[in-house]
Amino acid sequence: MTNRGWWQRDDLGYQQDSLHFADHCVSDLARQLPSPCFIYSGKRVTDNLQRIKGALASHGFDQQHGLFYAMKANRFAPLLTYLKTTGLCGIDACAPNELTHAVSCGFQPNEISLTATSLSRQDFETLAGYEGLIINCDSLHSIRSWGKLKPGSEIGIRINPAMGTGRADNEKLQYAGDQVTKFGIYREQFAEALALAASYRLTVTRIHLHTGCGYLNQQLQQWQKVLEQSLWFIEQVPSVKAVNIGGGLGVPHVASDQPLNLDKWAKTLAKVMGGKPWRIEIEPGEYLAKDAGLLILEKTFVEQKKDQWFVGVNGGFNLAPEPAHYGMPFLPVALLNTPETRRVSVVGNINEALDVWYADIDLPCLEDQPYLALINAGAYSASMASNHCMRGAVNEFLIL
Ligand SMILES: Cc1ncc(COP(=O)(O)O)c(C=O)c1O
Repeated sequence: MTNRGWWQRDDLGYQQDSLHFADHCVSDLARQLPSPCFIYSGKRVTDNLQRIKGALASHGFDQQHGLFYAMKANRFAPLLTYLKTTGLCGIDACAPNELTHAVSCGFQPNEISLTATSLSRQDFETLAGYEGLIINCDSLHSIRSWGKLKPGSEIGIRINPAMGTGRADNEKLQYAGDQVTKFGIYREQFAEALALAASYRLTVTRIHLHTGCGYLNQQLQQWQKVLEQSLWFIEQVPSVKAVNIGGGLGVPHVASDQPLNLDKWAKTLAKVMGGKPWRIEIEPGEYLAKDAGLLILEKTFVEQKKDQWFVGVNGGFNLAPEPAHYGMPFLPVALLNTPETRRVSVVGNINEALDVWYADIDLPCLEDQPYLALINAGAYSASMASNHCMRGAVNEFLIL
C-alpha cells in the first residue's frame, strides 16, 4: 500500500508508487539529467505567489499591495525570466550583483526593491546608476552615502522593531529581537535618521522591516506584535506611501509543521495595517520557491556500520547548506515507494562531520534504486551553494 507522507500534494507525490513532480516522473528525469541536479517547478512558484495575492486581496489589500520576489532564495535566470513574463511580481534584491542579474532577466529598475547591508562606496555608485531603483537604507551610513550621491531623491528606511519572528523561534533565523543586530534602524536612532535624510533633502516614502525567516502559524501572534511595534515608526513619517513588511513566511519541513494559514496571516496583517493610507508591500523568498524544488541525487552506497545503516549520495551539504547551518531538515524521499522500509541516515560526499542530510529516517530499501530526492530544495540551496571540497558542480532545470 502506498504510504502518503505529509509532504505529498497534487503536484508532488507517488503515482503507482513512482514519485511524480510537476507532471513528470522523477525517475525519468533522474535518468535523463546529469546528477546531482535541482529541478524547479515554475507552476508551483506562481501557484504560491497567487495564493499570497489571493489572501491579501480577500482582506482588503486588493489594489493596494506590491509583491517582490526575494531572489536571494533562488536566482536561477530562467526562473527570474519566467517570473518577469508572468507580470505577477517585482524583485527584492540584496546586493548590486543581484540587481544587475535581475535587470539581465528583464526586470526594470523601478520593479526592483533593494535592501542591502554593509554597502561599500563602490556598491553605492553601482546602485546610483539605476534610475528608478527602490532603495531601503538600513543604517545611518546608508542614508548618508545615498544622500551624498542622490540628494533630493526618495528613499525607504529599514527599521528594527527590536522584536522578530522565525521558524520554531530559532534565534539564528531572527533578524530582530533581544539580541542587537546590524539590521535596520532602532527607535533610539530613528529621529537622527530622519534628520539625516532631511539634511540631504531625501523624502522617506517607505518603511521597511524584515525581522526573521520561516515563521508558521505558531508565530503569528508574535508577528502581530512585530507589526504593532512598527506602527510607531510609520506614524513619525507623514510622507510614507508604502510599508514593506519583508518576507519570512515559512513552509513545513517536518510532519509536525502545519502549512502557514494564509487567511489567518492576511487577517492579522489587516488587523494592524488595514485601512491605512499607504500600500502594503511584501518580499517573500522561501514561501514562493522552497517547496517548488527537488534536489535529485545519485545513491553511492548502502552500508551498515555498527548498528547504523547509511545511504550515501553524490552531493553534500555544500549544495544546500540550510539543513547543516540552520538545522532545517530537507526530507529525503525515494523515487520508488516500496512496502519494506529500513531506518537509515542519508549522508553526502563531503569530508565534514556535519555532512548528514537526514539522520534516522525510515526509507524504502534503496539497494535497487539508483537515485533519491530531497524536497524543499527550491530556495536557499543552489543560491547558497559552495564549491567546498571542489564538489560544487550541480545543474539546475526549470519545468514550465
Ligand atoms: C531584507 C529581506 N527581505 C526578504 C527576505 C526573504 O526572506 P524569506 O525567504 O524568509 O521570505 C530576506 C531574507 O533573508 C531579507 O533579508
